[in-house]
Amino acid sequence: MEVKLLDLIPQHEKIKDEIHRAVDQVFNSQQFILGPSVDRFEKSMESYYGVEHAVGTASGSDAILLSLMALGIGPGDEVITTPYTFFSTVSSIVRVGATPVFADIDPRTFNIDPEKAASAFSERTKAVIVVHLFGQSVEMDQFTEIAAERGVFIVEDACQSIGALYHGKRCGMFGDVGCFSFFPSKNLGGPGDGGMVITDSSDIADRIRALRMHGEEEKYKHKYVGINSRLDALQAAVLEVKLRYLEEWNRARRLNASRYEKAFSGLRGITPPFIEEYNESTFNQYVIRTPRRDEMRAYLTDKGIGTAIYYPVPLHCQECFSFLGWERGRLPESERAADETLALPVYPELGIQKQNYVIKTITEFLDKRSL
Ligand SMILES: Cc1ncc(COP(=O)(O)O)c(C=O)c1O
Repeated sequence: MEVKLLDLIPQHEKIKDEIHRAVDQVFNSQQFILGPSVDRFEKSMESYYGVEHAVGTASGSDAILLSLMALGIGPGDEVITTPYTFFSTVSSIVRVGATPVFADIDPRTFNIDPEKAASAFSERTKAVIVVHLFGQSVEMDQFTEIAAERGVFIVEDACQSIGALYHGKRCGMFGDVGCFSFFPSKNLGGPGDGGMVITDSSDIADRIRALRMHGEEEKYKHKYVGINSRLDALQAAVLEVKLRYLEEWNRARRLNASRYEKAFSGLRGITPPFIEEYNESTFNQYVIRTPRRDEMRAYLTDKGIGTAIYYPVPLHCQECFSFLGWERGRLPESERAADETLALPVYPELGIQKQNYVIKTITEFLDKRSL
């Protein structure tokens, strides 16, 4: 049997008529840059989140970059964040000329540890970027408290966590801005790159709207040095259709995760993800920890099961960030996670048969290794 880590085809099969109609509408209008399709999707996201503003961008990476630009973060400023995340959380800080300051993760949730973040503050700290990794919220109460005390911004990288809840409230709504990615593999994935920033601040939203259009506030009048980073009209049209299914798909992912949890909880040699009881994860990834990660991965590959490693090299150990002066050994929990974690298939349409095959194969692997 073959089980892919992520198979987008069954999902597309179910909704392809709706998608084709939405795409046709954009072609018939020939309005490909912003226009009604982007406006509509931005409005839908505003009402899904209950926020004042949603601004579409060309990618999740640009959503973070534009947020930092709009908050006026630049040379001389420090931004505290996690090293155990996707590259662009940190590259965005470097691209605006500011300095990333890393705080290690909580080994149970893989999210940035609020106490370690608190001790990373300095006079130069201007913002914290929290990343709701794999679909589970960061400890937002602690972060909003520290940020208010210290007078710094919070940028939420919710690229993996659209729809996730923390104490009943959606991730992305706690900070000054929430950033999303619509990369195809996300829970709400478009047919290409796309992203969005949500905020309740009209001032920040206006700046991001200008910055994504070369800094224009009026045609050919440039208030800022911006970039070209708009959400594409075709992406928006497809995302508008898919947003209607997001809750259903997130529920299906949670159900798959609960099946794994039940199957793995008694097994030695594997630690299923730990989800705080006040969190509702969206399981963009289902990430287990196992000391024999590479061996287990090779075994699963051999049996036709797709897996992935998020992330094999923590960002403080990346060559391009070596100038920051961090070295291996300084953030031990992130480094250990990079060596021990493995993502298993959890997509909504996985189905019982395929999931049972994954469970059986993992159990088999663990049995053989403990002989
Ligand atoms: C945590 C995180 N941050 C940022 C991004 C960047 O998003 P994009 O790929 O849309 O640029 C991603 C997704 O790839 C992500 O998972």
